[in-house]
Amino acid sequence: MARVILILSGKGGVGKTTTSINLSAALHELGKDVLLVDSSLTTPDVGIHLGSPTAPINFHHVLSGRAKPHEAIYLHSSGFKVIPGSISLKDLRNAKPERMKKAIHSLKRYADFIIVDSAAGFSRETLHAIEAASELIVVTNPDLPSITNALKATKIAESHGKAVTGIIVTRKKSRKSEMTIKNIAEMLESEILGIIPEDDRVKDSIDLKEILLHKYPNSRASKAYKKIASRLIGQKYQEQQETFFGKFLRNMGFSR
Ligand SMILES: Nc1ncnc2c1ncn2[C@@H]1O[C@H](COP(=O)(O)OP(=O)(O)O)[C@@H](O)[C@H]1O
Ligand SMILES: [Mg+2]
Repeated sequence: MARVILILSGKGGVGKTTTSINLSAALHELGKDVLLVDSSLTTPDVGIHLGSPTAPINFHHVLSGRAKPHEAIYLHSSGFKVIPGSISLKDLRNAKPERMKKAIHSLKRYADFIIVDSAAGFSRETLHAIEAASELIVVTNPDLPSITNALKATKIAESHGKAVTGIIVTRKKSRKSEMTIKNIAEMLESEILGIIPEDDRVKDSIDLKEILLHKYPNSRASKAYKKIASRLIGQKYQEQQETFFGKFLRNMGFSR
């Protein structure tokens, strides 16, 4: 049965979708069967990041009863499975967030890991996603507004009886004024799972509608995501530099 990990933040724009996609890709590279679900009904960005903003059957259809959960699963060319959301306002109106828990539970047999991307804030869609998860990863930037919301996220998770596996600090710029990782860990009273540096390659990959981990596997942010994925499955991270030949094959479309 799959581990259902919700990627949560409270504040928007901190890097949840980037984290959900790249953790899914990193876990897949480690040999895990991964299903990425976009539970953000109001701002479903996974499809947009992956270059397929519309899907004929999507998570909104599942939540409105128009499709069965497994019918909305797509196989991304990189090898992990995805259930994207719909950008249509009509689909948004018809989707019932209270169906989320049952839908996600029924998907557990299709993967080792279900990574669930979430919406900003703590509206009904997020609360139902928390209910559906078996554990949570809270994403924050190293600034007070996102840390305050991350703290709220951990408290809400606890009040729902859900374990916070840890915190991912993204967009770390290592400026003097920035909050230290030690302070962030103390404020959030949670383990820091990993730190993703500010990396221009992240924006480049989104602009190209490609997954960072595939387009720029040796970037600092990619390595940081791979390290977190190793940690999640209790493996030691082994850094692998891509060879010239490997890069050539990947660019020709022969890699996973
Ligand atoms: N490590 C990073 N370095 C630089 N930019 C980043 C990084 N992570 C995310 N971003 C940028 O932040 C923006 C928001 O990221 P996103 O993953 O969509 O956040 P969320 O899902 O929390 O709203 C994106 O445009 C992306 O370019
Ligand atoms: Mg997002």
